[in-house]
Amino acid sequence: MLRGNELGGLRVLVVGASSGIGREIALQLVGRGARVAVAARRADRLADLVGATPIACDVRDPLQCERAVARAAADFGGLDAVVYAAAVSRITPVDTADIDEWKAVFETNVFGAALITKFAIPYLTAEGSAGRAVFLSSDSSDVAFPGLSAYSASKAALGRFCQGLSDELPAVSATEVVVGPTAGTDIADGFDPVLFGVWATRWFEEGFVRHGLQQPADVARVVLTLLEEASPPRRTFAVGVSAVAASLEEGRLQAEAKAP
Ligand SMILES: NC(=O)c1ccc[n+]([C@@H]2O[C@H](COP(=O)([O-])OP(=O)(O)OC[C@H]3O[C@@H](n4cnc5c(N)ncnc54)[C@H](OP(=O)(O)O)[C@@H]3O)[C@@H](O)[C@H]2O)c1
Repeated sequence: MLRGNELGGLRVLVVGASSGIGREIALQLVGRGARVAVAARRADRLADLVGATPIACDVRDPLQCERAVARAAADFGGLDAVVYAAAVSRITPVDTADIDEWKAVFETNVFGAALITKFAIPYLTAEGSAGRAVFLSSDSSDVAFPGLSAYSASKAALGRFCQGLSDELPAVSATEVVVGPTAGTDIADGFDPVLFGVWATRWFEEGFVRHGLQQPADVARVVLTLLEEASPPRRTFAVGVSAVAASLEEGRLQAEAKAP
């Protein structure tokens, strides 16, 4: 049965918590007294999240997903919520991207979410669990960014997965959080700088960037509010309210100015 949650004592697994938004969600949850397990591949980055249980996990591996969920549930005696923030992005022009790039994006952004959810369902539907699942998608799930077709398609798929989960299993309260551009994360670290310059110029000049830049802490606050709600929505937005940059250069300046 769904109930509004005090965050204190809430048992949460945050997947994709070694950097960026997932890390900030974990930090805010720990700060509010939740019991938090954090999963990602970079175990060294998880280790300094004081107060959280670090779990090394590559979500592309089903066995590692199963073990990560079981480990978190064993530590806490169950699970109230899973927050899925893991993702990779690649510049994948449709005419040149190879299948390995498509696989990397879909395995991490969609299949990993499905696997973590599958293994978490017995805990989320157990007596006494708050039964929450939160998936971070992107504003590119509604309007694909040119050059990011694989990423945008994966986020649209994640949104449909979340909706399917809600209807298939009403005992789990699932929410898709549509995230807008957010500074200070590692999501673009793998981008080739030259290709990024070419495509990002189009994103700004042709109006694909529709929201101002925000910080990971802004997104984390939306997620924590969701976890406190008695009846969370199936879909909600975490997008910046500051001015939208009109050019790549202006976007870069905004990102620099907003760096924590
Ligand atoms: N930043 C933005 O502008 C923006 C905009 C819209 C949506 N989002 C969404 O917000 C979420 C967080 O992204 P972010 O911007 O904070 O990026 P980020 O700093 O790169 O965080 C991504 C997280 O995913 C983890 N991850 C990637 N591959 C993994 C794998 N195979 N197994 C386990 N974990 C994996 C990374 O950890 P390891 O590398 O250590 O595994 C990292 O902790 C993502 O879902 C992203 O799509 C971000």
